[in-house]
Amino acid sequence: MDYLLIEGNRPLHGDVEISGSKNAALPMLMASILSEKITHFTNLPRLSDVDFALKILVELGGNVRMTKEQSSISAYVEFTDQANCIAPYELVRKMRASISVLGPLLARYGHVKVSLPGGCAIGARPVDLHIMVMEKLGAKILIEDGYIIAEAKKITAGDIVFPFVSVGATQAAMMTAAVADGISTIRNVSMEPETIELGNMLNKMGAKIKGLGTETLTIHGLNSKTLPGSSTPIQILPDRIEAGTYAIAAAATRGKINIKNAIPEHIEILLYDLKESGAIIEKTSDGFIVDATRMDKIKPVDIVTAPYPGFPTDLQAQWMAYMSVANGTSTVTEKIFENRFIHIGELFRLGARIKHSGNVATVFGMPKLTGAPVMATDLRASASLIIGALVAEGTTEIHRVYHIDRGYERIDEKLKNLGAHVTRLREG
Ligand code: EPU
Repeated sequence: MDYLLIEGNRPLHGDVEISGSKNAALPMLMASILSEKITHFTNLPRLSDVDFALKILVELGGNVRMTKEQSSISAYVEFTDQANCIAPYELVRKMRASISVLGPLLARYGHVKVSLPGGCAIGARPVDLHIMVMEKLGAKILIEDGYIIAEAKKITAGDIVFPFVSVGATQAAMMTAAVADGISTIRNVSMEPETIELGNMLNKMGAKIKGLGTETLTIHGLNSKTLPGSSTPIQILPDRIEAGTYAIAAAATRGKINIKNAIPEHIEILLYDLKESGAIIEKTSDGFIVDATRMDKIKPVDIVTAPYPGFPTDLQAQWMAYMSVANGTSTVTEKIFENRFIHIGELFRLGARIKHSGNVATVFGMPKLTGAPVMATDLRASASLIIGALVAEGTTEIHRVYHIDRGYERIDEKLKNLGAHVTRLREG
């Protein structure tokens, strides 16, 4: 197992290139199950979660060819009329996003058995809405021995109203209703850029999805088992959470970085809050610059996480690390996941002062943090520890960095290029 050694208290400076989005790539890879043609993906990020998703597609019977380039993966995925429609516990437990094979496999092959993922470090994360979607679209569902067993001779259109916004359940509904018999209306849907991009991909493949980016989708099903497929490559959009993490790191270390290959419009609310805290943000032709070199003190700014276009829960932990060195007190309210505050205990070890009650954390800004050994508990928690370590005086060891390798491509290399003192070492 690797760990990172970071000598902090140095401003980040220079350019950083943002990779393809993990959370866009995962469901898009799974959507290729529906395609009659070979799907060619470009700009897939080089992450362990992407390797894992490609492995799942192979386990399910897909033909996968891939080429690893220096900073991305390009892959060709093909499914035929034969597949193995079982996603076992060993796979789904390791990566919850595997649940998104449910709809495509059911639609194409008429039956599927997918393990229930179980809870994870950030909350119980039930999949009841995914099951509701399949039932509304005509599937018979049985929960047995920890598995969702679904059958549908044909996908039939349905009207779905989500009780609250779910990214994954919206995506499941889009993939499945795309081939249904009839017109489906789906309300209170996710408007996240990753969901829109999945919709764009499905439309390129021949689906008829209208209303992407609004609260209601209307899907004219093709009354088929498959989608015709895309003859042009599917390019994965830049990762807005990676871009946001570097933006916060630049501000926290009072540095100046040019974030390239990024779409600032996808993190408008973060950039607004960074400006409120005193950083200067300047959009460029291929991204944006964060300049905190003239920021005397970090102004405390309260945030509340919410579905897009609200403040992303995937940047909450990083923001908390930033506010730990603000000049005053701020609050961080987590409204998406019930248990996404595990990083607080580790930030404490760096000298942060945070009190939390329920889903509200009060962050008492300190003049400085100090390095210590800490443990990463999940992907975004590890990103917050990296920001804490970059700010802290002295050396921080971050253990269990495999969490960060799931979602941040070559983070140690990218940080080194920005002037950080980061070393990756092997435990033991
Ligand atoms: N929920 C249910 N029932 C369901 C589905 C969701 O109660 O059937 C609840 C969840 O427990 C949560 C809320 O609804 O409290 C929202 O969850 P959502 O379904 O939107 O999340 P997701 O699709 O499981 C994706 C990202 C997460 C990101 C969330 C929210 C992927 C692969 N994952 O998860 O990313 O935090 O949306 O934006 O796209 C990460 O990258 O670190 C990460 C956790």
